[in-house]
Amino acid sequence: MKIDGTPYRSVWVDQQDGWSVRIFDQTRLPWSLDILRLTDPREAAHAIRSMQVRGAPLIGAVAAYGLALALRADASTAAMERDAAMLAGTRPTAVNLRWAIERMLARLRATPEAGRARAAYDEAAAIADEDVAQCAAIGRHGLELIQQIAGRTGRRVNLLTHCNAGWLATVDWGTALAPIYMAHDQGIDLHGWVDGPRPRDQGAFLTAWELGRHGVKHTVIADNAGGHLMQHGQVDLVIVGTDRVTRTGDVANKIGTYLKALAAHDNNVPFWVALPASTIDWDVSDGLAEIPIEERAGAELSTITGRAMDGSIATVRVMPSDSPAANPAFDVTPARLVTGLITDRGRCKATAEGLASLFPERAAAQHATLA
Ligand code: MRU
Repeated sequence: MKIDGTPYRSVWVDQQDGWSVRIFDQTRLPWSLDILRLTDPREAAHAIRSMQVRGAPLIGAVAAYGLALALRADASTAAMERDAAMLAGTRPTAVNLRWAIERMLARLRATPEAGRARAAYDEAAAIADEDVAQCAAIGRHGLELIQQIAGRTGRRVNLLTHCNAGWLATVDWGTALAPIYMAHDQGIDLHGWVDGPRPRDQGAFLTAWELGRHGVKHTVIADNAGGHLMQHGQVDLVIVGTDRVTRTGDVANKIGTYLKALAAHDNNVPFWVALPASTIDWDVSDGLAEIPIEERAGAELSTITGRAMDGSIATVRVMPSDSPAANPAFDVTPARLVTGLITDRGRCKATAEGLASLFPERAAAQHATLA
C-alpha cells in the first residue's frame, strides 16, 4: 500500500546489502515513521515480542526472515532448530507464526547445509509474496459484500473494524482492511469506524494512520462505542481480522472482538472475519478450550504513550501505581456469532463444513490424521 503516494510492504530485504531485513517500527507510529534493520534472529524475535511488528500474518513472515538471518550466520541443524524454537516462542496466539516456522523447517531440513541460507531467503520471500496475493484475494471477496450493501442502500456504507488488520498487520493489503481499500479505490462511498482496543489501541495508532495515508474516510471511536453505534443503525457491516480460526470456525482475535460480535448479533449487523489460509488451525476444534491466549505485561495497561502538547513523545501513568493490572491480549468469538469467513479462496460459513468446502484437501488430511 502507499504512504503518501510511495508503495511499501511491511517487511522487505534491504536492497543495498541484499540480506538484512527491514521493518517499520510500529511502536513509533503514528508519531514517527522509523525503518529498522534486523541483522540476526534475536533482533527479529525482539521485534515480534515488543510489537515493533505485530499482526498474525506479518509476525509469520518476520519469523521466516528471522530464520533466514539465523542460517546466514550458522547453517547447522542444531542452530537452525534452536533459533526456530526461539522464534516460534515469541507470541503464542497467532498460529501464522508456528505455520511459517514449520513451513520453513520442512524445506530446510531437506536442504543440505551449504544451500540452507539461500533456501531460507527464498522460502521467506515465497511466504511474503503468497501473503500479499492471499490478502489481495481476500480484498476481492470482501469487496463483493461492500458492493452488495452499497447497491442495496444507495448510500454511504459504514463499516466497523477492530484493532489493526490492515497492511501493517500483513505483508501488504491487510485482511479486514483489504476489502475497504478496494472499495475505496473503486470509488464506493464508504466510511470506517475504527475502534481500540485498549491497552495498545492499534485502532487509533495504526488503523487510523493507515486509512488516513490512503485517503479512506474514517472516525476513531473508543473500544466501547461500537455497540451504541450498532443500536442506532450506524454500522452496516463489521469486518475484523483474526489470529487463529479453528477448523470449526471459532475465531481468536484481539481482545474485545467477542464483545463486538455479541453487539452485532443483538443488532442484526453482519459480522465477518477476514483471514488467509495460514490463519486456520486444522488441529484445533474448540477455540475456547484449546487456543492459548497471550497475557501481556500489566505495564501496557498502566501507562500510555502519546504526543504531549509541546510536541514531545511522552509516556504517562493512567492508573494508581499500587493497583494491579491484568492484560489478556486476545479473546475467542464462538463460531455461532460469526456471519461468515472471508478467505483467500472465497467466503464461507464459520463452520467445519464451510471451511472444508473451500479447503477440501486440508479437511481431508485432517480427517485422515484423526482416523
Ligand atoms: O496484538 P496484535 O497487534 O498482534 O493483534 C493483531 C490482531 O489481533 C489482528 O486483528 C490480527 O492479527 C489479524 S491481522 C491481519
